[in-house]
Amino acid sequence: MSEPLYPAVGAHQGAVVFFSSASQNTARFVANCHLEDEGFNVYRIPLRPKEPALHVREPYVLIVPTYGGGNPKKALTPQVRRFLNEPENRSYIRAVIASGNTNFGDAFCAAGDIISAKCHVPFVYYFELMGTPDDQRKVRKGLVDFFANQRAKKTADSDPATTTDALPLQYVSVGAAAAPRD
Ligand SMILES: Cc1cc2nc3c(=O)[nH]c(=O)nc-3n(C[C@H](O)[C@H](O)[C@H](O)COP(=O)(O)O)c2cc1C
Repeated sequence: MSEPLYPAVGAHQGAVVFFSSASQNTARFVANCHLEDEGFNVYRIPLRPKEPALHVREPYVLIVPTYGGGNPKKALTPQVRRFLNEPENRSYIRAVIASGNTNFGDAFCAAGDIISAKCHVPFVYYFELMGTPDDQRKVRKGLVDFFANQRAKKTADSDPATTTDALPLQYVSVGAAAAPRD
């Protein structure tokens, strides 16, 4: 189990895993969300191959930028691919948030559709570049609600008297076709 970049402060609510390349847009977005202050462990997928691999052993929402310039086979960076190819890492993913640049048209945030299809998790939110303060607010609140909902669901599964149908973040698909697994 790897150490989070930003460990949760106070009562633990859940976890977020993100990747960001040298341009650091996603890293800035995540830092600006201050998710650790809401009780989230925030893990970063390493950028360079020499860094130790990331091993996450708790349920998390993945936040990733889209690459590939419109080629769905390259929409996920090798670092994200490597992380998700480890079965134990993949077993803890619960949802995906993707970023991108609207200049890429139909391929805008395609990474979200691809990960959603491959890992069978909802694509819950997307934002452009480093996001806006409104994106930060929505993601911060949405993640708190999402993990509260996950906990309620777990209780409901063990206690049929409890039900929950809250839909916390906006469930989205920006329309890019999911690519087959390489
Ligand atoms: C070579 C290259 C290819 C990209 N391809 C896409 C794309 O297909 N779809 C998209 O929405 N954004 C695309 N983007 C935009 C990035 O997703 C965007 O700049 C993002 O904020 C980068 O995040 P990062 O700085 O954390 O790595 C591309 C950017 C680069 C530099």
